[in-house]
Formats: sequence, C-alpha cells, structure tokens
Amino acid sequence: MRLCIIGTGYVGLVTGTCFAEVGHQVVCVDNDIEKVRRLRAGEIPIYEPGLDVLVPRNVASGRLRFTDSVAEGVEESDVVFIAVPTPPQPDGSVDLSFIESVAREIAGCMTSYKIIVDKSTVPVKTGEKVSETIKRYNKSKVDFDVVSNPEFLREGFAVEDLMKPDRVVVGVLSQRPVTAMREVYAPFDAPFIVTDINSAELIKHAANSFLALKISYINAVAAVCEATGANVVEVANGMGLDKRIGRAFLNAGIGFGGSCFPKDLSAFIKIAEQLGVDFRLLKEVQAINAGQMDRFVKKIAETLWVLKDKRLGVLGLAFKQNTDDVRMSPAIELCQRLLREGASLRVHDPKAMDKARAILPPSERLEYVEHQDDVAEGCDALVVATEWPEFTRLNLEKARRALTHPILFDGRNLFDKAEMERLGFLYKSVGR
Ligand code: UDX
Repeated sequence: MRLCIIGTGYVGLVTGTCFAEVGHQVVCVDNDIEKVRRLRAGEIPIYEPGLDVLVPRNVASGRLRFTDSVAEGVEESDVVFIAVPTPPQPDGSVDLSFIESVAREIAGCMTSYKIIVDKSTVPVKTGEKVSETIKRYNKSKVDFDVVSNPEFLREGFAVEDLMKPDRVVVGVLSQRPVTAMREVYAPFDAPFIVTDINSAELIKHAANSFLALKISYINAVAAVCEATGANVVEVANGMGLDKRIGRAFLNAGIGFGGSCFPKDLSAFIKIAEQLGVDFRLLKEVQAINAGQMDRFVKKIAETLWVLKDKRLGVLGLAFKQNTDDVRMSPAIELCQRLLREGASLRVHDPKAMDKARAILPPSERLEYVEHQDDVAEGCDALVVATEWPEFTRLNLEKARRALTHPILFDGRNLFDKAEMERLGFLYKSVGR
C-alpha cells in the first residue's frame, strides 16, 4: 500500500517505520524542516529501542522517506494517517487545532479518493468533525473516507507493540475503507475489530483510563499494606494470577506519568462532563495518583527530618524505563518538590538527561551525574524515581560507602527488601 503519515512524533515515526518494515511504501511528513533534514540524514530525534536500525534500513530500501510537504505526501498515497500532537489545555480538554489544520490542508490538496485515518488520541466525536471539515474544504470535490485507528503503543516498547499488536481497532462511518485498512494491517496478523467511529475513539480513552485505574488501585492498596505490614508485591502477584485481573499494571510506585495517561484521563473526564456524565471514578484515580507522590515525599521527609541543605542522589528522570521522555514525569516532579524543600540533588538517567536539562537546568543545587554508580557520592540518601532495570545493577557496596548513612528510598520497588537490609541499608519502598 502507498501510505502517508503526517507528524513524525513518537506515534508517527514508529508507525511509519514499522509500516515500511512490513513492505508498504511510506512517506512521513513533518512541518518541522529541521526535523525532516535530520531524519533524512539518518538521525533519530527520539530514543526508542529499534528505530536506530529500522529507520536507516527502510530509508535505504526506498520504502521510507521524509518530506515537509503535505501535498506531496497526500498525492503519493492511498491512505493518509494523521499523527499530530493533541496537547492538553488548562481546563483538561485537548487542543485539537493541529488535527483541524491538518484536515483542512489534506482537503485542500486531494485530487483523488483518499482514506484519512486519525491515529492521534482524540476525544470521542472528533472523527465526525474531521469528516465535516474535509467535506467543507475539499476543493476538488473528490470522494474520501475518514477512519479512526487508535494507537496503543507504549513508549520504550513501541516497535514491539506495533509489530505484534494485541488488536487493531478500525472505526468507520461506512464499510468502504475497511478492505484497504485490512490490507494495511494484513502483515501484522492481529485481531482486527471494525466498529463505528465513536466506539473506536472511546476504546482508546477507556483502555488508557482503565490501565491508569489499575495503577491507582494498587497504589491505594499499597497504602493499606504499609499500614498493616503487608507486602503489596505479594498482594499484586496473588491478584494477578486471577486471569480476569492479570498481573500487568499492578506495580505500585510513585504514580503514573507520561504524555498519555494524565492527559487522557483529564480529557475523558472532560468529554464525559460535556456529554452530561460525571465520571467521578476517574477523578478519584487522579486524586490517588497525586496523593501517591505526597506520601513518598512525606516518607523521605519523615526519615531525613529536615530536607533543607540535605543532599540527595536521584536515580531516574524519565517518566518510565526505556525512554528519554520526561513529559509529565513523576521523577521530574519529585526532583522539583525536593528542590523546593531546599535539598540539593545529584541526578542521573540512562537516556533522559538531555531532555531533563531543559526542564531542570543544572545549578549549584542540581548536578547531573554521568554514571549511576557515582550518584551517591557525598549524599545523605539515594532515591529511585524511575523503573530502569539497570538501576538494579547499581554498585550497592560503593553506594553504601559513599553515603553519609546508607539510606535508600525506592519509589519503584526495584530492590529486594530483605537483601537491602542484609547489606545494611535503611531501605524504604512503596507498600512493602
Ligand atoms: C500508555 C499505554 O500503555 C499505551 O497503550 C498507550 O497507547 C499510551 O499510553 P505509555 O505512556 O508509553 O503508554 O507508558 P506506560 O508503560 O503505560 O506507563 C505509564 C506510566 O505508568 C509510567 O509513568 C509508568 O511508570 C507507570 N506505571 C506503569 C506504574 O506506575 N505501574 C505500572 O504497573 C505500570
């Protein structure tokens, strides 16, 4: 198939690359000329495992190319995917102006039948609006169909999720685009679900909100575990073996973050409200998530007493492992709160330090450390803020000697509690 992807962010770039990898002819469009130049030169603007191999391979094969011209992308393709940002607004709703302007641009340059697919996460009823907009600005009056095809990929595992999807959801206003959409996804061999367009949009919001709910649920259970001396990991293991529940997304920690969950929850609450439904359950999910960070900061403050002029080593800045993304990162929020309390920080992240510097500029109270084993140097305690697996390989003996007193606050339950205590650490984690 000849495919065009508009927007080369996390979703667009991974989608376009994986489509090329399975044999489609793909043109990726971005209005950021500098980004297009870098991509053409083989530079990958984000850290996402696998892309460094897949992008050059598919560019070399001639199946993947980059341009800044929507008209060129649309002209050369049968199916046009919209994967532009839908940023949050202060009232919780999402800004759909990028989607709207891309829809108008596509409409203005279509000269033959096109299928326009919305991949960005959008509130229910956006597909209908996109369809109306294209109809209105469709200069050549050619036929078109609008499809909703939500993306479920996780950052850090995006290539894997795209190549082996749990399901492909295709929401349509008529049956006409279904055959082409099946052809696009035929190489992926995944369950293919066709729904109306509003249901497809709701599947995305409902799935993400449910996953966020699972995390808040286990975080609330963790608070009860702490109050009773129970162990939340054992509780989660015991719950997770029930097939109806499942073990995934039951890891207690300092709360969820990232560019999706916080935004999707607010947007789902907002759109429900506009439709006359007060989705209080999801408001509680947000409240538990905020409270989780408060409880962790309190735990640190109670142990160290006064935080002012204490020096803390923080492991992790990304919002989760395997990514350099720091958007809405709980780790960054934790650093900001510790700094506000007057602490000095030595911070490290395997991939996210460059992006973090833009939000948390280095200062006399904030030092970026190149190697994880050097973070503890001269610190009063260590804090684990992101679930990077490499942190479990920390040189604990070196850390123990470097710290004033061996104290470790593990916000992601990465270490074995009994082992840490055996090594002489005052070890505090979440719900254990
Ligand atoms: C999420 C969805 O998983 C994905 O399907 C959707 O398309 C986009 O949003 P992503 O934001 O990349 O993906 O990250 P995810 O792996 O879901 O983690 C989100 C946050 O939850 C992270 O901050 C992570 O640390 C936290 N988390 C996750 C937990 O605290 N506990 C868990 O058990 C799982």
